[in-house]
Amino acid sequence: MYKDLEGKTAVITGGNSGIGAAIAERLGKEHMNIVINYRKNLDSAKTTAEIVKQNGGKVIIKQGDISQDGIADELIDAAVKEFGEMDIFFNNAGMETQKPTHEVSLDEWNRVISVNLNGTFLGTKAAINYWIKNNKQGNVINTSSVHQQIPWPTFASYAASKGGIKLFTETTAMEYAKKNIRINQICPGAINTPINAEKFSDPAAYAETASMVPMGRIGKPEEVSAGAAWLASDESSYVTGQSLFIDGGMVLYPAFQDGKG
Ligand code: BGC
Repeated sequence: MYKDLEGKTAVITGGNSGIGAAIAERLGKEHMNIVINYRKNLDSAKTTAEIVKQNGGKVIIKQGDISQDGIADELIDAAVKEFGEMDIFFNNAGMETQKPTHEVSLDEWNRVISVNLNGTFLGTKAAINYWIKNNKQGNVINTSSVHQQIPWPTFASYAASKGGIKLFTETTAMEYAKKNIRINQICPGAINTPINAEKFSDPAAYAETASMVPMGRIGKPEEVSAGAAWLASDESSYVTGQSLFIDGGMVLYPAFQDGKG
């Protein structure tokens, strides 16, 4: 637990499910105030909000498509209206689609880029404007992926969006460091979340993915949110522009495990 987080306010885009929900639930345990943003699935937002409350946090739910201009500002306004402040902004909302790249339409490409990359830009921009206007320090945490580094055939839009987030995080971290705004990213590997539920419910597919992880298993959402909480807290006060890989070693060239090669 991080004492300094108690009573602070976080906005989490896509906070209704998967890694976003795990972050909301963990920050509830830190007794924070949370704005859960969701786009379509109100039921999952309500379920996550209930858990946040049971965990000791305060919470509101706010609908909005983060890829649209102005939505991030609405989320921040809602946070300030309800809780009086906005301390930490999580650009977490994301999506992935699979198709051979030569068959992907421009619309399909744009949808992934606009949610994952434009959404991160719009959220970061709105948060920075809020902190600068109010003369406050700030903290942005982006959800990237091991695929900011590992190429992923048939998921080119996703990999491109995450590679884009990597340099966006590093660039903005440098740009706003003197204003005391920290900007970092978490890079999950294969985690048991709804985005992967179907795939990992098949034992053969689970085993195949697990074999690509040096630790030999799929990660739990709580293992990712633990890293997010550390980046949110003052315990990471001298960390900015960094990628925190939470992946059981997936980016370490697992094919070479046991001295092969
Ligand atoms: C993707 C998952 C995938 C994992 C490892 C993540 O970014 O969302 O679907 O299992 O990377 O490849």
